[in-house]
Amino acid sequence: MDWGIQNRLNRLIQKDGKALFLPVDHGYFQGPTRKLEKPGETIKPLIQYADAVMLTRGVLRNCVDPAIEKPVILRVSGGNSVVGDDLSNEGQITSITEILRLNASAVSMSIYVGSKHEHQTLMNFARLVDQCEDYGIPVMAVTAVGRELKKRTARYLGLCSRIAAELGARVVKTYYCEEDFDKVVDGCPVPVVIAGGPKVDTALEVFEFVYDGLQKGAIGVNLGRNVWQHQYPVAMIRAIRGVIHENLTPKEAQQLFDQVKAGKA
Ligand code: R5P
Repeated sequence: MDWGIQNRLNRLIQKDGKALFLPVDHGYFQGPTRKLEKPGETIKPLIQYADAVMLTRGVLRNCVDPAIEKPVILRVSGGNSVVGDDLSNEGQITSITEILRLNASAVSMSIYVGSKHEHQTLMNFARLVDQCEDYGIPVMAVTAVGRELKKRTARYLGLCSRIAAELGARVVKTYYCEEDFDKVVDGCPVPVVIAGGPKVDTALEVFEFVYDGLQKGAIGVNLGRNVWQHQYPVAMIRAIRGVIHENLTPKEAQQLFDQVKAGKA
């Protein structure tokens, strides 16, 4: 692998082979999402526990201190909105020059397999890979399902993840599924990180799916709402970090969460 791309990947994926990405890119189609009204404030207490932050150029420029030490994964697909007709109708919203200017360590783009705009998003993705590989920038695929959350089966996620890798993704972000998640990871020749999806009921549920996903081969997470929409976001991210980088079990993560919440850790 070329030195530049390997170096950037090493900044994202830690020496233990694991990664905790913190996405705050939701506003690109959702507007001022709950608890992300001021993204700069949201990430302030959390960023030290993340291995990278994922956001758009607008939030990066306006809300994040350029002295930030953590690597940036720039979201470069968009052009859709929650009130529009079809979430899958995305294009590339940031040029390669801008990606370089903003010193991104990686970029991310959604693909919508099986949607009305499948071909368009896959071709966008392949073109982005061509542009970024020229400069040693890794591309992370986001296997998006839009509003169709029920699509999240191993068969579908495995299909999307494999296609993304075949088109040149260096990392694939996909959803976790309880059944056969190992098949999703096994069929994907590049590292897989788990996206969180809408906030679940308890912290323990998050620790359980992150733990199970890692046992089945994922290298980490790209988890947003289940961290920063939680009442105790710092306790959440620290406990999730424990599962990822310290091999904590869900029960141990819950104990750490309780300690941080009580101000005892
Ligand atoms: C979608 O808005 C973005 O791609 C998010 O980065 C992704 O969905 C992960 O965030 P969450 O854990 O909130 O689903």
